[in-house]
Amino acid sequence: MSVKRIGIDAGGSLIKLAYFEDEKLHVRTHSYHDMPSFIQWMGIIAPNAKIVVTGGKSRHIQERLATPAVEMDEFAATPAGAAYLLQQEAKHSLKTSILVNIGTGTSFYLLKEDAAERIGGTGVGGGTLLGLGNLLVGTDTFKEIVSLAGKGKRSAVDLQVKDIYEPLEPPIPGHFTASNFGKAFSFDAAGKDDLMAALVGMIAETVMLMAVQAAASRQIKDIVYFGGTVAGNLPLQSVLKEATHAFGCRALFLDKGEYSGAVGALLQQ
Ligand SMILES: Nc1ncnc2c1ncn2[C@@H]1O[C@H](COP(=O)(O)OP(=O)(O)OP(=O)(O)O)[C@@H](O)[C@H]1O
Ligand SMILES: [Mg+2]
Repeated sequence: MSVKRIGIDAGGSLIKLAYFEDEKLHVRTHSYHDMPSFIQWMGIIAPNAKIVVTGGKSRHIQERLATPAVEMDEFAATPAGAAYLLQQEAKHSLKTSILVNIGTGTSFYLLKEDAAERIGGTGVGGGTLLGLGNLLVGTDTFKEIVSLAGKGKRSAVDLQVKDIYEPLEPPIPGHFTASNFGKAFSFDAAGKDDLMAALVGMIAETVMLMAVQAAASRQIKDIVYFGGTVAGNLPLQSVLKEATHAFGCRALFLDKGEYSGAVGALLQQ
């Protein structure tokens, strides 16, 4: 069966696709390393479709497609898609929230009832996870980094507030991070898993702190985290959730959130 419309998000790391078939939303990921299979798949499923492309590598993709495509700004497509997914997945009755897309890099959006705007970003994101993962333990495979992080102990690598205050009672919660990787200059007992747990923790805390500050300055409580770095990454999700709550906000996750850009492109009028 061929589809009428398809949204493509050509990001810095991965190609994401979204389309409706039998009125149901379908999503898919392709790698830039296997363009022939992507082009072949497009020829089968969407030979006559209206194609809307978003993301930093939109041009790269368009040059390789057989049919012309329409371009959409990723900073419009991403919050539009996330707002749709939030509603579909019925996570909550949405008024306003901060959206956080942790892709190769990270972007922050303010989502209001009828509009969204990009309010900032940081270069700390999924590219940092793969890059520092490679430098620290010699693996740049997302799955392996996540699996190591799930088994590791951050306390072997990070300096916690209680480590500094001991034996005194600290004025802020003792398990808060005083210094990410702060024990790494003198340790003898950190394994690959501990290092990856600390790396995931540093990325999660950096992104979370920017999100809660953006939320607090606007009296917002809900923060929605999504993107390729969040999907299937339970260690990252768990730090994001716990730390967001510690700062008085609520953390929400979208089941198909890594496809927000593609969904926003698909829905473009
Ligand atoms: N199979 C995979 N291959 C590569 N990266 C993966 C994979 N699965 C998850 N990731 C993680 O997802 C990140 C990319 O997320 P995402 O696809 O949302 O970003 P992007 O849209 O390509 O980048 P950006 O929006 O910043 O241009 C990678 O940096 C990596 O940490
Ligand atoms: Mg992206």
